[in-house]
Amino acid sequence: MTHTDNVCLTPDGSAVRILDQSRLPNETVYLELSRAEDLYEAIHSLRVRGAPAIGIFAAYAMYVLARQSRAELYFDFIQDCEKIHRYLNASRPTAVNLKHMLDRMLAVAEAMPCMDVDSILESMKKTALAIHQEDIDMCAAISRHGLSLVKEGDGILTHCNAGPLATSRYGTALGPLFLAAEEGITLHAWCDETRPLLQGARLTTYELQRAGVDCTLICDNMASIVMKEGKINACFVGCDRVAANGDTANKIGTSGVAILAKHYGIPFYVLGPSSTIDFNCPDGDHIPIELRDGEEIKSKFFEKPSALPEVKCYNPAFDVTDHQLITAIVTEKGICYPPFDANLAALFGRKKKEG
Ligand code: MRU
Repeated sequence: MTHTDNVCLTPDGSAVRILDQSRLPNETVYLELSRAEDLYEAIHSLRVRGAPAIGIFAAYAMYVLARQSRAELYFDFIQDCEKIHRYLNASRPTAVNLKHMLDRMLAVAEAMPCMDVDSILESMKKTALAIHQEDIDMCAAISRHGLSLVKEGDGILTHCNAGPLATSRYGTALGPLFLAAEEGITLHAWCDETRPLLQGARLTTYELQRAGVDCTLICDNMASIVMKEGKINACFVGCDRVAANGDTANKIGTSGVAILAKHYGIPFYVLGPSSTIDFNCPDGDHIPIELRDGEEIKSKFFEKPSALPEVKCYNPAFDVTDHQLITAIVTEKGICYPPFDANLAALFGRKKKEG
């Protein structure tokens, strides 16, 4: 598999370079962004999307904007960094990677009291690059663990996009499929188109097809029939926030896939890095769900609007899959089985919260 970074820092460190995912698969457009409003808009409009990619992008964005601070004194510089953190963190609410990486960047600056701004910026840059490298390593490990769950000839159902575009290199939920192809193991991917923004159709089939992985696109409401027909051996999905008890927020429609999988006795796996686990969030009821513009449902991908302009729409971008529907959560540290509250905490060396 050849790798090109879909998110990176420009060589002079003045901008973040991204492949604009909102234009794929028809146009390949790279953008260099350095203005606060453009960086915010890139996340909000899903030019950069997928929880880990958003986190990496936010770390680079924070560095790029901190470089623009005119502060000479430490306390003024920290105030500017806090402002940048608040602004970028408001761009999308559900993927916890965004907050985790912004927190980490701010903590670097806060840990260097009374140092000169140039030294702090140097440390922030190093941290952003390290965050990116860690994601590459975590995705490789997750893909390897995921591959151990399937066998030659299996059909894998996937929802939304959790491939290289949403992460780094191999991706998470799609990683085992890329690895399998490299190792001569034949798997077949069934890709939900993922309404309303069609990440499955536009991005997942694009990535799989280019890597030579056999794949078939289906509408979201066809998942039940392909399961019933015996075409699916496992479901692999990504995640935007995993609560401490294993409840998982992912792209809208994921929980429906999990309910169907339970009905047909098909294992349902969530694949994600530790940066997507929110140990401070006890369960799915505490995960904020992003609500987006109803026009995405009515007119975004249609030549003509599919409904009258005055029709009301409800457009939650994510839903929460109950932990009881999840067979296992595949992380870089290994495959975690229920009970998730105890086993996730143990896997990551955390004390399980009581009550
Ligand atoms: O709204 P999106 O496209 O950012 O939603 C993305 C997903 O739901 C992905 O499955 C998730 O971020 C995991 S990416 C490895």
